[in-house]
Amino acid sequence: MKNITITKLDLIFATHNQNKVNEIKNYIPKNINLMSLDDIGYKDKIKETGKSFYENALIKARHINNKFGINCFSDDSGLEVDCLNGEPGVFSARYAGKPYDSEKNIDFLLNKMKNSKNRNANFKTCIVLIHGNDVKFFEGKVEGKILNKRKGTKGFGYDSIFMPKGFKNSFGELSMTKKNKISHRGIALKNLINYLTHNFH
Ligand code: IMP
Repeated sequence: MKNITITKLDLIFATHNQNKVNEIKNYIPKNINLMSLDDIGYKDKIKETGKSFYENALIKARHINNKFGINCFSDDSGLEVDCLNGEPGVFSARYAGKPYDSEKNIDFLLNKMKNSKNRNANFKTCIVLIHGNDVKFFEGKVEGKILNKRKGTKGFGYDSIFMPKGFKNSFGELSMTKKNKISHRGIALKNLINYLTHNFH
């Protein structure tokens, strides 16, 4: 770990994904010193061995908080399909096996659903924040349907086959700004930011 003096306004986002960190930096209160794992020089990948998004987020946040004693939060997200009893769930990133590949995951899922009339699904994000002795949970969820084939090229993961409820476009056709307003991640982050704004001093 780099040589840093810990203050109560330090907050680690336990992720190696710098895009996620940059995104949230625009929204969190300016007094908070937000750092990624790379910012503190922590290179290891934390194993996500949980059976739920909450478990995975908790594992990552606990791991970093125990190691560095700094306030910390972590997130975990994925897709849950009704007719597949919530699959791919925590396996969303690795649904079709190694090497992890979004296009392969989509093909695998569409093939599993090829005879399913029920196309209902949701994206979920769980965030776990460890703040002093408190452990806080935040959630965001967006309901929608799985399309029969890809539509749109924006976004990532399963975006091109997910159509949010009340929309005629897939996530893959929405701009990032529009998607963030209604997405599971956007909602969970809003809840976290609301908490930080009122409680993180
Ligand atoms: P993560 O926990 O945010 O890294 O998400 C795990 C996996 O869930 C990703 O690799 C994607 O396969 C899927 N996923 C999560 N959020 C989204 C999203 O907003 N769009 C499409 N796929 C997503």
